[in-house]
Amino acid sequence: MTARILVTGATGTVGGATLRALKSDAEARRLELLGAARSEKGMSRLRDKGFTPVAFDFDEPATMRAALSGVDAVFLLTGYSVDMLVHSKRLLDAAKAEGVRHIVHLGALAPEDTPFAHFAWHQLVERAIQAMGFSWTHLRPNFFMDTVWNGFVHRPDRVVHFVGGQRVSWIASDDMAAVAAAVLREPARHAEKIYPLASESLTLAEIADILSQVTGKPVDYRSRPASDLLPILQRQGAEPLYAAGLADGLAAIERGEMPIACESFDTVETITGRKAVGWREFAEARKHHIA
Ligand SMILES: NC(=O)c1ccc[n+]([C@@H]2O[C@H](COP(=O)([O-])OP(=O)(O)OC[C@H]3O[C@@H](n4cnc5c(N)ncnc54)[C@H](OP(=O)(O)O)[C@@H]3O)[C@@H](O)[C@H]2O)c1
Repeated sequence: MTARILVTGATGTVGGATLRALKSDAEARRLELLGAARSEKGMSRLRDKGFTPVAFDFDEPATMRAALSGVDAVFLLTGYSVDMLVHSKRLLDAAKAEGVRHIVHLGALAPEDTPFAHFAWHQLVERAIQAMGFSWTHLRPNFFMDTVWNGFVHRPDRVVHFVGGQRVSWIASDDMAAVAAAVLREPARHAEKIYPLASESLTLAEIADILSQVTGKPVDYRSRPASDLLPILQRQGAEPLYAAGLADGLAAIERGEMPIACESFDTVETITGRKAVGWREFAEARKHHIA
C-alpha cells in the first residue's frame, strides 16, 4: 500500500520545496502526496503546479481531521508566530486521533537547554511529539539562505543582518526539502533521529563578498545591532511574542553566547547522498532573479 503524506506549510518556502522534492515520487505513485493550504488561492496555486491540495487551516481545527484522514506521515511546519504552539498542539491531537504514525517536525538549531522562546518552543513541540507516542524525526535548521536572499533581491547592493561579525551557519530551503523528502519516503529508517541542518558557516561580510563576486557589483554588509531587530519586526507587523523571542536569540548569537550557531554539519550529504548547496552556488542559481 502506498503511504499517504501530508505536507503542512505547503504554500510557503520549505513546505513548497518539500512538495517539489517529492513530486516525482507522487507521479510514479510511490506515495500519495497532499499539500495543505488554508485558502482557495493557496489551493489553486498548488493545483496549478500539479500538486494535490487539501483544505487545512491550523485555526480551523475541523479542517484538520479531514485533511489527516488516512495519512501515514506528516511534515509539520508552522509559521513565525507564537501561534506555532497551539497550531502544533492541534495538529498533533488531530493526527493522533486519525492514526498518523510518523511526524517530521521542522524546528530550529539550538542547544537542548536553550532559554530563548523561538527555539525553546520548537523543542517543546518536539518533546510533545515524542511524549504522544508518534514515531518522529526532528529537523533543526539554522539560518535560511533564502531569508537573506529575499531581502537582497530587492536591494542588491547590500545585505542587512543583526549578528554583527559572528560567523553563523546556513542552509538552503532546497536542501531542507531534500532531507525532509528522504525522511518522508522512508520514515522508519529515520525514526527517532534529530538532524541538524546547517551546511556552511560564514560571516555576513563573507556572504556580501560572495554576492559581490557572483553579481559583479559591490555589495556591502550593513550590520545592525540585534537590539534594532525587535522594533523593525514590530513595524513590519510581526507577532510581538515571537518577534521578542527571535530578537533575544539573535542578541545572544551577536554576543557569541550560542556557539552552536556557527556549527555546520554533513547531514544533507549523509542523508541525500549529494553535497549541500553553499552560498556561492545558491546565489549563482538565482542571480537571474535580480532586476
Ligand atoms: N528563517 C529562518 O532562518 C529559520 C531558521 C530556523 C527555523 N525556521 C523555522 O522555519 C519555519 C517557517 O518555515 P518557512 O520559512 O518555510 O515558512 P513560510 O514560508 O513563512 O510559510 C509558512 C507556511 O505556513 C502556512 N500557514 C501559516 N498559518 C497557517 C494556518 N493558520 N493554517 C495553515 N497554514 C498556515 C502558510 O500558509 P499561507 O501561504 O496561506 O500563508 C505557509 O504555507 C518556522 O517554524 C521557523 O521557526 C526558520
